[in-house]
Amino acid sequence: MGRQNFSELHANGSLMATPISYSSKLPGEQASIFSVMAQKARKYKALDVSQGYPDFEMDPDLQNLVTGAMQQGKNQYAPLEGLAALREQISLKIQLLHKKTYDYLSEVTVTNGATQALFLAITAFVRPGEKVLILKPAYDSYEPAVTISGGIPVPIPLKDPEYEINWEALEENLGPDTRMIIINNPHNPSGRVWSREEMNKLAGLLQDTQTLLLSDEVYEHLVFDGRTHISVSAVSQLAERAIVCASFGKIFHNTGWKMGYCVAPRELMKEIQKIHQINVFCVHHPTQSALAEYLKEPRHYLELSHFYQTKRDYFLRLIRNSRFQWTPAQGTYFQLLSYHSITDQPDVEYAEWLVREHRISTIPVSVFNHNRKDWKQLRICFAKKDETLEQAAEVINKL
Ligand SMILES: Cc1ncc(COP(=O)(O)O)c(C=O)c1O
Repeated sequence: MGRQNFSELHANGSLMATPISYSSKLPGEQASIFSVMAQKARKYKALDVSQGYPDFEMDPDLQNLVTGAMQQGKNQYAPLEGLAALREQISLKIQLLHKKTYDYLSEVTVTNGATQALFLAITAFVRPGEKVLILKPAYDSYEPAVTISGGIPVPIPLKDPEYEINWEALEENLGPDTRMIIINNPHNPSGRVWSREEMNKLAGLLQDTQTLLLSDEVYEHLVFDGRTHISVSAVSQLAERAIVCASFGKIFHNTGWKMGYCVAPRELMKEIQKIHQINVFCVHHPTQSALAEYLKEPRHYLELSHFYQTKRDYFLRLIRNSRFQWTPAQGTYFQLLSYHSITDQPDVEYAEWLVREHRISTIPVSVFNHNRKDWKQLRICFAKKDETLEQAAEVINKL
């Protein structure tokens, strides 16, 4: 057949190339809603409160630390697992907040954002045919990473309308072939924060199983109204089987740096580092040096909850007379707004109409959901300057 193709001629007499045959490893995967909405926001010159990143500047002190590190010649490959000074600070931070000691020499890896840490953890442990339970709605990188490894993603939908955990479904799907559970706390997009009781319940459920826990905690420092972030690392029965992933971009207002890390017990971390080594080997050296210095001051992360709660409250005050309904986000920098009382249009259509006609770009929540279940909710990112929030509120109040 290949030969036949080779012998085919174009009309102008030149040889036609053999069609290369392959099958996509991610056939259903399309451009993510974040790219789609960001593109539409640009096209319609819309106010962009869709994607999760700040529109204000990060701390210039941290920028200066990176510049300084470059000037000091920290410009060659960093160690595979990350600079020891940074890993030590990460370990000290977890010790301070969660009273858990990770050995920084063997249980911490600095990664290219939390996304790479998640990918490493999935690729290191999930084998073809093994099940991975994913609480949905979920960040969109988990499922394709499981699929690429030949694993079977099993969606466990959270219960509407308050995104409660479906314990019965979790229990039903836990079996000898369940390799991993992926959780995200505080949760994007709902903003929900796990309680200690829920963490303990999960520990009880996983006891006596061979199931690993992958905990995405990128919004760890954004919890509101006096809540505490209960990290998986703070619950010893969970920490012993868990890989915890975190992001510097989310907490230090520099998502474009794509810096993150993961922590896990030594034996698990060994496997993760094998993949990291052949995947990127190491991440940006001067930035690691700067972060190691910056983390020495806990106020840089301890003040974040107050900072973002003030933004959430300001935004919700601005839209208090609108026709949208909401439960204030418990954490993250996202607020869900329900629009049942305005229209029963599907959320993707409504979001597209809003960006086209009202020049505001939001995220329709169904894209995160199992079977695209539509709860008529839009996600707004409030990691924005006050003037951006005011402009967003002006549009929202008119709808
Ligand atoms: C739940 C969740 N996990 C991970 C990430 C990615 O983090 P990073 O930018 O550090 O890769 C995001 C970013 O939006 C997120 O919302």
